[in-house]
Amino acid sequence: MKNFYSNIYSFNRKILKKTVISLKKGKIAGLPTETVYGLAGNAYLRKAVLKIFKIKKRPKKNPLIIHYHSIKDINHDVVLNDNFIKLYKKFCPGPLTFVLKKTKRSKITTLATANLRTVAIRFPRHKIIRNILKQIDFPLAMPSANLSSKISPINAFDVFDDFKKKLKIIINGGNSRIGIESTVIDLTESPKILRPGVISSSEIKKCLKCKFSKKKSQLRSPGMLKKHYYPGIPVIFGKKPKNSSHAYIVFGKKYEKHDNYFNLSKKADLKEAATNLYKIMRIIKKKGFKKIFVSKLPNKGVGLAINDRLLKAAN
Ligand code: TXA
Ligand code: MG
Repeated sequence: MKNFYSNIYSFNRKILKKTVISLKKGKIAGLPTETVYGLAGNAYLRKAVLKIFKIKKRPKKNPLIIHYHSIKDINHDVVLNDNFIKLYKKFCPGPLTFVLKKTKRSKITTLATANLRTVAIRFPRHKIIRNILKQIDFPLAMPSANLSSKISPINAFDVFDDFKKKLKIIINGGNSRIGIESTVIDLTESPKILRPGVISSSEIKKCLKCKFSKKKSQLRSPGMLKKHYYPGIPVIFGKKPKNSSHAYIVFGKKYEKHDNYFNLSKKADLKEAATNLYKIMRIIKKKGFKKIFVSKLPNKGVGLAINDRLLKAAN
């Protein structure tokens, strides 16, 4: 078993340098963020972005999020607006992704943005990814580091599960603190949430002091349309299991201990539930259960984001 995980590295100056050099050359790497792990490549280099799409088996019409160190780095690529500035000041770096208009002079490869006139940008908070972003003079295109349509990885070993040695570098930055993907908000017209996350729409509304657009955005998040977040076994949403070969994902203190019961949060804390969601789905799959049953969580705050993932997983 020696060297089984030889492409998983602890973070230090040596691996930082190695990662920076390989990203500059157009190679890709599995890197930690506070939401989920990402598969990173130079967003200005078509060949790097192509590698990301290929290895993930991701449809080319599904654009990638472009990651930056700070607001100082984005001027060339996106058109700023007041709503963006307000949200940036309050939540960044952090688990919020903004869809903005792409500038004509932007160097982001059109492959990364699926030929759209918009671009999704994020400023991740995890100190390792910030360290890397600080050392490079290009942004990172970085989808979650999983095969397309599967659940996102929350540690280096989850990344390894999907890609094995096909990735030369996976950096181990511990378990992702948040555990589900960032909130995606379209700011090109009146604000609209395209993907719910731990930063809730009420927090965003409070910060912007505005109402959200009720009309359907033409600019739906392309990745939100299809089957997604599949844990590898069928998920049945809104029902209880009939026998113990089926796992039951529960939430809150009213559940007793059973071998096939997995509690997202005994203290009924929705943030804790989000952190545990993908971890528990992976454990259930590894234990050999044939199906996952799960009841709807309270549909408020982070609960909205969790129900969104569960519903899609059940699709
Ligand atoms: O937390 C996260 O956001 C993670 C970490 C690694 O940063 N990344 C992530 O990327 O979840 P990905 O590729 O798995 O999801 C990106 C989502 C997709 O639903 C995609 O369709 C949407 O963002 N998206 C990207 N560019 C867009 C655009 N220009 N307009 C609308 N949606 C866009
Ligand atoms: Mg993803």
